Amino acid sequence: DVYHEMYRPQIHFSPKEKWVNDPNGMVYYKGVYHLFFQYYPDSTVWGPMHWGHATSTDLIHWKQQPIALYPDSLGYIFSGSAVVDKSNTSGLGQNGHAPLIAIFTSHDPIGEKAHRNNYQNQSIAYSNDDGKTWKKYNHNPVLKNPGITDFRDPKVMWYEPGKKWIMTLATKDRVTFYSSPDLLNWKKESEFGEHIGAHGGVWECPDLFALDDNGKTVWILIVNINPGAPNLGSGAQYFVGSFDGNKFTTSNNNTKWLDYGPDDYAGITWSNTGSRKIFLGWMSNWLYANVVPTVRWRNAMTIPRELKLRHVGKDILVVSEPVKELNIIQQHPITVSNIVVDKNLDLHQKTGAVKFPCRLNLSMDTVEDFSVVLSNDMGEQLMIGYNKSDTQFFIDRTKSGKRSFQKDFAARDVAPRFIKNNGMNLSLIIDVSSVELFADDGLTVMTEIFFPSKSYDKITLHAKEKLIIKKLSYANLQSIWK
Ligand code: FRU
Repeated sequence: DVYHEMYRPQIHFSPKEKWVNDPNGMVYYKGVYHLFFQYYPDSTVWGPMHWGHATSTDLIHWKQQPIALYPDSLGYIFSGSAVVDKSNTSGLGQNGHAPLIAIFTSHDPIGEKAHRNNYQNQSIAYSNDDGKTWKKYNHNPVLKNPGITDFRDPKVMWYEPGKKWIMTLATKDRVTFYSSPDLLNWKKESEFGEHIGAHGGVWECPDLFALDDNGKTVWILIVNINPGAPNLGSGAQYFVGSFDGNKFTTSNNNTKWLDYGPDDYAGITWSNTGSRKIFLGWMSNWLYANVVPTVRWRNAMTIPRELKLRHVGKDILVVSEPVKELNIIQQHPITVSNIVVDKNLDLHQKTGAVKFPCRLNLSMDTVEDFSVVLSNDMGEQLMIGYNKSDTQFFIDRTKSGKRSFQKDFAARDVAPRFIKNNGMNLSLIIDVSSVELFADDGLTVMTEIFFPSKSYDKITLHAKEKLIIKKLSYANLQSIWK
C-alpha cells in the first residue's frame, strides 16, 4: 500500500510517488483547496519541474490529481501562484465564467547552461474548468527578464484600493513589486530588501498579504531564503510593515522567522480565502531534501497553518497555528490535569496506549526545563524541549535514527522564546517522521523531520527536577490516507 510505507507521513500531504518540493498556486475556489507543487514525475530527485496537483475540501485530506503543467519550449515550470480572476480582467475567461490564472516562472535550462542572465521569465496559464485542466497563454512570457539571473517565484494578489494586480517577485537579493491591470502586462513598481533582513543566500518564494490588527491593516512580506536560515540551510523570514500599492516599508529591526526549525521552506499562503490566511510550507531543507532515506517518494508538506498577528512589547509578530480542521482527524482525546513529572514520566501511564501520529498539548503555570522524548527500543530518540536559562526551545535529532545521509542533519536546533510569562503552552503535531512544535500559541514554531530505523512507539516526559503540567491533552490522529 503506497501510503503506508516506512516514513510515509500519515497526516501530511506527500505525492504517491517521486519528487516534490515547493507548494505552488495555492488557491481556494468553489469549496476546493487547490495545492499545486514542484514535481518531477520521473525520479525521486529534483529534475525538470512540472506542477503536480492535489485537492482537498478540508485542508487535511488530499486527493492527488493529474499533473497540471508540463515543461514546454520556454523551459521548466518553476514556482508561482494562482488567483481567481473574478471580473475576467485577463479576458481569458469563457462564457462569463471567472478563469483561474496560474502565474509561474519559465526556467530555460538551455539558457542556464549557456550562463545567460535572462533564463527565468514569468508566464501564465488559465483554467476554465475550476482548476481541473490548464492551458498556457499564447503569448508567454508575460514578464521578461531584464538581466537578473535569479528572477522567479511570482506571487500575485489583487490590490483592491488601487484596483490592480500586484506581483511580488524574488529578484536575487531583494523582492521586486510589479503591477498589472489584466495579469498580462506588468509594470515595475518598486524594490525591497537590498539592505534589510537575512542575506545568507538567495531570496526565493516571497508572499505579500494583509492581516488584520484590531481593525487596522498590517502588511506581511514572507521571504524564503536559501541558505541562511537560523538552523542552517533553507528557511522563511518575514517582515511586518505597510504597503501602499507601490512600495512596501517596514520598521523591522531584527530578522523574524516564521518557523525556526530546519524543515519548513518555500511556504506561502492560499489566495481567495477571505480574511483567513492559511500558510503551507515544504517540509524539508535543500541541505538534504535529495538524499533523505525514503524510497518511492521524496518529501512532504507541513500541516496548513493559520497566520495571525500578536503584539509583543513594541513588536508585532506573526503567530502560526495548525488549522482548526485538524480536529476532524482527532480520535479519543484525553485531558489530564495537574500531572507531576518527577524526573521521568511515561506518557502512556496517563493517557493509555500512545500511537503515532498524535497530538500532544501541554500547559503549565510555571515553566522549568523539560523535554518530550519520542523513542524506540533501539535507543533512538528525538528530544523536544525548553531550556530556561537560554530561554530557548530546542529539538535535538542527534540520536534520532538514520542521519548519515548528510552531515548537517544530526543537529540540535534551537528557537527563541518571545515572551517572559511564567506560564507556557505547547502543541506538538507528531507524525511518523516529523514533528511540528507550536509554542506560546504559535509565537515560536519549529518543524523537524526524522528517520528512526524502527518507528518510534514511546513518548516520555522529562524534567530536571519536578515539573507540574497543569493540563495535558493527548489525541491520536487518524491517517488521512484511506
Ligand atoms: C525554492 C526553489 C524556487 C524555484 C523552485 C525550483 O525551493 O528553488 O526558487 O522556483 O524551487 O524547483
